[in-house]
Amino acid sequence: DVSFRYSPDSPDILRGLDLDLVVGGSTAIVGLNGAGKTTLVKLLARLYEPTGGRIVVDGRDLAQVDARDWQRQVAVVFQDYNRYQFSAADNIGMGAPAHLDDIAALERAAAQAGADTVIDHLPDGARTVLSREYAGGRELSGGQWQRIALARAYFAIAKGASVLVLDEPTAQLDVRAEAEFFDRFLATTAAVTSVVISHRFSTVRRADRIVVLEHGRVVESGSHDELVALGGRYADMFALQARRFQDEATKEAL
Ligand SMILES: Nc1ncnc2c1ncn2[C@@H]1O[C@H](COP(=O)(O)OP(=O)(O)OP(=O)(O)O)[C@@H](O)[C@H]1O
Ligand SMILES: [Mg+2]
Repeated sequence: DVSFRYSPDSPDILRGLDLDLVVGGSTAIVGLNGAGKTTLVKLLARLYEPTGGRIVVDGRDLAQVDARDWQRQVAVVFQDYNRYQFSAADNIGMGAPAHLDDIAALERAAAQAGADTVIDHLPDGARTVLSREYAGGRELSGGQWQRIALARAYFAIAKGASVLVLDEPTAQLDVRAEAEFFDRFLATTAAVTSVVISHRFSTVRRADRIVVLEHGRVVESGSHDELVALGGRYADMFALQARRFQDEATKEAL
């Protein structure tokens, strides 16, 4: 029954939202721009506290859990993920700063996220600063940054985080990278509770459970097949996107 507003005189973004996350499984959240998906993630990561209702983790009110302890449990890649003007290695290591010197684990996380090929092309490898403002530094493309941010999350998981939240993890990945990402994602996150927000149905449909957010509430929830059969909001959005892809494919063929 979670409600949330950003300031006392602004409208409720979440209104009596009920949501169970599948422990050890994946939950996808879909909804239109501004539906409150990122806001929900910020509450889960405890960057904000609910203004009404509560979030319960393993029977405990999250508000009673030490925020720092909880944040070590949760690996989040935000939509506007952080781009630190640090080396590639430190950008990944920020996922678990206490373990920055575990180079082998950093390399594994990079490989899982497909960031290893990005790093291989840097003049000084993982030691290269990811900013042009530094001598020998390099700027990355959006998709390359996204792989680094994903590697950061994988590193956090390798070091003990049990909840993985990805807000638009594949928005900037090309089609092949997106497919690769999911093969790796499913292999690495078997024991992890994951939450994925995406506008891409190729991403969403693989989740154990899909939740549709509208006007600050969960309006539909189920598997891809269940929601398509339901013929509601999800089915509409899916049909719209499928039609658009078909149109584009037809245009290309002409
Ligand atoms: N820091 C903030 N202060 C005030 N209002 C905010 C803030 N961040 C978001 N909002 C408002 O909250 C609402 C929900 O935003 P949110 O970012 O959660 O949507 P979203 O579902 O993630 O959308 P998108 O698909 O575009 O990422 C929007 O109306 C937005 O204007
Ligand atoms: Mg968002």
